[in-house]
Amino acid sequence: EKGNYRHFMEKEIHDQPEGCQRTIAAYVDTLTTRTKIPGDIDFAKIDRIQIVACGTAYIAGLLGKYLIERMADLPVDVEVASEFRYREPALNAGSLAIAISQSGETADTLAAFRYCQAKGMQSAALVNTVESTIAREADVIWPIHCGPEIGVASTKAFTAQVAMLSALAVAAARQRGKIDEAEENRLVRVLLEAPRLIAESINLEEAVRAIAVDVSKARDVLYLGRGPMYPMALEGALKLKEISYIHAEGYAAGELKHGPIALVDEATPIVILAPFDSYFEKSASNMSEVMARGGQVVFITDPEGERNAPAGARVVVTAPKCDPLIAPLVFSAPIQLLAYHVAVQKGADVDQPRNLAKSVTVE
Ligand code: M6R
Repeated sequence: EKGNYRHFMEKEIHDQPEGCQRTIAAYVDTLTTRTKIPGDIDFAKIDRIQIVACGTAYIAGLLGKYLIERMADLPVDVEVASEFRYREPALNAGSLAIAISQSGETADTLAAFRYCQAKGMQSAALVNTVESTIAREADVIWPIHCGPEIGVASTKAFTAQVAMLSALAVAAARQRGKIDEAEENRLVRVLLEAPRLIAESINLEEAVRAIAVDVSKARDVLYLGRGPMYPMALEGALKLKEISYIHAEGYAAGELKHGPIALVDEATPIVILAPFDSYFEKSASNMSEVMARGGQVVFITDPEGERNAPAGARVVVTAPKCDPLIAPLVFSAPIQLLAYHVAVQKGADVDQPRNLAKSVTVE
């Protein structure tokens, strides 16, 4: 039930510290501070991972790609299932297929997953619903344990999927000899800190709500980010369009000059996601370019990023400082809350957006 919340989506955003805590507890051993990934998968032997998914689950997969490739030096391909299933992709039986699906019933994801299995690939299902078709047909089930998600806009399932993939990246890095045990222990402690930091970032709700009042007047909104904040920009835009019906686009910030900068004017809010990481300076310079053209920037960063913000950055949301491994988890709440409060401001039906279904069981 919704308890004191107005909408399931609001409740599910607030459920995330607990949801992620359950996910992480399932994939790390708190006594040894080591990862534990169920299933007979040798990450040192597989040559590649193929992720298939739709919508927000696809974006979680993109984040998985960024983490796994950088940390474990293991190639990961991620594709929207509706394209993958029909284009006759070239696959190798030595690769691992991962289907990501909250419901475990998405028709395109299921068909893409079966296609991988027919090619002889090992298969793992990253699902919330363990009794689902995708789970039943998988060699290995990786439940996310975040509890039922009712709101059509996915929130806590997304962060739980990302939390599991973060643990998976650490496990794969360790098995492939890219990190030693001490580093694995450190990263597991970082994962265990995530629920507390997600809770802190949910506490930014009032600041985000104030920004939402302005954003709700916009016709178009751009989201920009680099590295893992690029998939997060896609997620921010998807969330906003699905529940507030404002046209939104997520772009890799480096693509700004290759097209989207033409859209920048005083009426278009530009949400820039940029923690103080190795990409920060580049994102900050994109921000200056946008501001020079009159763009209204909503800058979502961390304390160090706020101190180093280019002059003129006014609307700042400051998420807690964290290790880059969990930055996507910590930056999720502000973008979800922004979409949520814009939709509420517009009087939209947040939990049942028009034309959308929670589970898409037809293609
Ligand atoms: O149940 P699934 O995770 O397979 O669903 C995939 C998408 O339909 C889903 O994530 C959709 O994009 C959400 N409405 C996004 O908030």
